[in-house]
Amino acid sequence: MEVKWRFQPSCSLAAAGDLNVRAVVKRLIENVDKNSGKPMINLGHGDPSGFSCFRTAETAEGALVSAVRSAKYNGYPVRGGTPSARSAIAEYLSKDLPYKLSPDDVYVTSGCNQAIEILLSVLALPGANILLPRACFPFYETRAAFSKLEVRHFNLVAERGWEVDLDNVEALADENTVAMVVINPGNPCGNVSTYQHLNKVVPYAILYH
Ligand SMILES: Cc1ncc(COP(=O)(O)O)c(C=O)c1O
Repeated sequence: MEVKWRFQPSCSLAAAGDLNVRAVVKRLIENVDKNSGKPMINLGHGDPSGFSCFRTAETAEGALVSAVRSAKYNGYPVRGGTPSARSAIAEYLSKDLPYKLSPDDVYVTSGCNQAIEILLSVLALPGANILLPRACFPFYETRAAFSKLEVRHFNLVAERGWEVDLDNVEALADENTVAMVVINPGNPCGNVSTYQHLNKVVPYAILYH
């Protein structure tokens, strides 16, 4: 009897994660003529640690080393970050705000992708939809498909520095809209929204949160 694995790839998840910048850059690099003698600069390299001018600050490196050497943090951490880390982050972020954040407003994750996983899992109530920018960081789409959360795409206007098309947002949203994703600085478009534009977006983001 032939023994087969009883699982197979999910077509919808594969399609949702298929088109991303890394895949396109990889395809481009594979097609470069390595014998042309021309040097190539990879403009798709998004990780700053490859460049010596983006060295992590010595204070951050030192704090990490002493935390490890203290042997106080080698066990299971508290979910959402240690109380001291959450207090420090809340205090730091409050510097530019007209109100004060509390440690309970802070939830520490292992990178942005884990934050996306947690948020989209929590938001994926039956029948709910989420508004994503077009173009968007692809993991949002993949994770939404995984949780069966309906995705609706609002346009970014290239001619206006990839601003959010707010009329489009209004046309797409309904009573089942649970969130609107705003990525700033934008990935993959690389734009940084102006303060004035973000001020216009915020009321929508609050409405659909
Ligand atoms: C908008 C956006 N979301 C999520 C991520 C993934 O972040 P991380 O590598 O911290 O999980 C990135 C990384 O570039 C990003 O730009």
